[in-house]
Amino acid sequence: MKVALVGYGKMGRMVEEIALQRGHEIVARISSKDKFSSQPGISKANVCIEFSHPSCVIENIKKLAEMGRDIVVGTTGWYEQHNLVEEIVKRHNIGLLYASNFSLGVNLFLKLVAEASVLLDPFAEYDVGLFEAHHSQKADSPSGTGKAIAKTILKNMKRKNQIVEHAQGVVKPNELNIASLRCGSIPGTHSVIFSSPADTITLTHEAHNRQGFAKGAVQAAEWLQGKKGIFTIEHMLGDL
Ligand SMILES: NC(=O)c1ccc[n+]([C@@H]2O[C@H](COP(=O)([O-])OP(=O)(O)OC[C@H]3O[C@@H](n4cnc5c(N)ncnc54)[C@H](OP(=O)(O)O)[C@@H]3O)[C@@H](O)[C@H]2O)c1
Repeated sequence: MKVALVGYGKMGRMVEEIALQRGHEIVARISSKDKFSSQPGISKANVCIEFSHPSCVIENIKKLAEMGRDIVVGTTGWYEQHNLVEEIVKRHNIGLLYASNFSLGVNLFLKLVAEASVLLDPFAEYDVGLFEAHHSQKADSPSGTGKAIAKTILKNMKRKNQIVEHAQGVVKPNELNIASLRCGSIPGTHSVIFSSPADTITLTHEAHNRQGFAKGAVQAAEWLQGKKGIFTIEHMLGDL
């Protein structure tokens, strides 16, 4: 598979390492200073793997779709523009797969959170909250993964129906608070906390490094070959 790396920072470099290990070829590497026109490799790519910045991801998707390229999108912080991206994918008849978190562990964690939410929903003495920690350079807050976990809890707990990001005051029983920490080099930690007057049950996923994200993104690129339309990691995991 010929791979173009759109965004060549911490994730782009890790994706390169894993893609090479899995026998793929890197045909373009694009950072903020590079124009797409100066990277002829893009037009030869079977897939572009996009890990850039929330401020440019939509523009990158537009340009790559116009070139007819299939895209794996790892950049987070754009999901309120999902309808626009869906329309771009349809108009140019490309394949696009996105995930707020490509690691297998986080996706298994989401299933555990769903089960725990169903189990604890009838026990109103257990309130639930969400905490996420990432490195200080991360642009979006709360994290895309944090938002995905929050949605999973809301879907599975009838007594919670509202997400409150960065609560400043009282959190009501129907609200689910997400708290964020930005510090140092933390690759990504997410905790779901069920707390009662008597005790606390905590589920935590802690990424040790970026390898899990990169491996998942390369697997997603392999899975996307020959497919048209918009997909999430759920579609891929269903086939594994
Ligand atoms: N889905 C997942 O599993 C997952 C996992 C980890 C991170 N992420 C997300 O992935 C994104 C990138 O993370 P990172 O840690 O790799 O960030 P990073 O180290 O800051 O790298 C970002 C890269 O994007 C480049 N860039 C900025 N503007 C660009 C543009 N207009 N066109 C092309 N490239 C551009 C930067 O170029 P310069 O070097 O020139 O500035 C840099 O190479 C973030 O949104 C992060 O939240 C997702």
